[in-house]
Amino acid sequence: MTETIFKPGLEGVIAGETAIAAVEQQSLCYRGYNIADLANNTTFEEVAHLLLYGDLPNAQQLSMFNESLAQFRHLPDAVIDTLRKIPTDVNMMDVLRTGVSMAGHFDPVKGESVDDLRRRAMWLMATCAGIVAARYRLINQKDTVDPLPGLNHSEQILYQCLGEKPSPTAARLLDLTLILYAEHEYNASTFATRIVASTMSDMVSGVVTGIGTLKGPLHGGANEAAMEMLSQFTTPEQADAWIHERFAKKEKVMGFGHRVYKNGDHRAHILEAELRKLAEEKGQQKWMAIYDAIKKPMVEEKKIFPNVDYPCGLTYYLLDLPIDMYTPLFVCSRVTGWAAHFIEQATHNRLIRPLSKYIGEPSRPVAPIAER
Ligand code: SDX
Repeated sequence: MTETIFKPGLEGVIAGETAIAAVEQQSLCYRGYNIADLANNTTFEEVAHLLLYGDLPNAQQLSMFNESLAQFRHLPDAVIDTLRKIPTDVNMMDVLRTGVSMAGHFDPVKGESVDDLRRRAMWLMATCAGIVAARYRLINQKDTVDPLPGLNHSEQILYQCLGEKPSPTAARLLDLTLILYAEHEYNASTFATRIVASTMSDMVSGVVTGIGTLKGPLHGGANEAAMEMLSQFTTPEQADAWIHERFAKKEKVMGFGHRVYKNGDHRAHILEAELRKLAEEKGQQKWMAIYDAIKKPMVEEKKIFPNVDYPCGLTYYLLDLPIDMYTPLFVCSRVTGWAAHFIEQATHNRLIRPLSKYIGEPSRPVAPIAER
């Protein structure tokens, strides 16, 4: 009889092995590369190649990767028609869930070999980005924008949203967030995707599952919730009063805390430094004063640190992106981590099926309906 342990939320339980990322108090690494090293020296496409193929690409491999991405960027008319039909007030994460599901009926990659799965991952990378951009245009009563050859993935997303080439700062900052968001081992949405792979289901179903899981404000939805929180305030004093009321009510503050990191999120440190420069460059230091008015008491009085979602919400806000696009942009990045884990699970599989502890009614006989 195998040993049985019960841990609510599987806290502290090792539920499997992975060679894709190591999330630890002292470091975060993707396939052995430290996140700070990757943030400073690679692009998101290089990180996507690393996650899917196991190593950083050389120049020729990167060029081939980008060519494949470019082939996959065209959205079928049926997908765009679907995006048109969804009511404009529907949350972008729900739109993305439907859009990927619809696109799955037009999946151009046939076959289930590891290379087919990698190409399907690249197609999903291009498709998620295309859906987010197309929807953004449609709800703003604008025509969709075709991809512009020669742009990198982050530039392409912004170009297809805005209809013009983005500033180098905006493209670089978006690319940094995509690198930071790409992978985080057995987080809730990735674990959910692995469960889908473990039943031998398909990658599109796995990604749609990941989208539904990431949406929650305890997970990826926190970047939107954190910005919704900050946007209530016009002064740091208001923020300080609010956070102390929050403490008194023992209510959670979005963008803070983490199931694994208890001394701070490596990604938050990296992104916050860039956010401060962006605020300075844009003359928006008042937002950093409000940001710090929330962060300071959380860290100093509660010892609860920002996670990546806290600086990311304000970064996207200062890049003039609509709040309900923040978690969909997280999807545009994490789809690479989900796909890498899907492939790892599918190629080293054992059905994921834990036990549960029964706390219901004791055994009892069925009474005839006349006696119930
Ligand atoms: C992501 O897993 C991943 O790797 C996820 C992610 C990824 O890249 O995939 O990193 C992305 O999801 C980041 C997290 C985004 N979510 C939020 O910002 C939502 C707010 N955070 C909390 O809900 C919470 O911190 C969690 C959900 C992230 C982690 O929760 P845990 O591990 O279950 O911890 P807990 O809720 O049991 O809290 C422990 C204590 C509690 O106090 P006590 O009841 O013991 O007195 O810390 C407190 C909590 O109240 N606490 C918070 C808090 N987070 C924890 N108090 C106020 N605000 C918070 N944000």
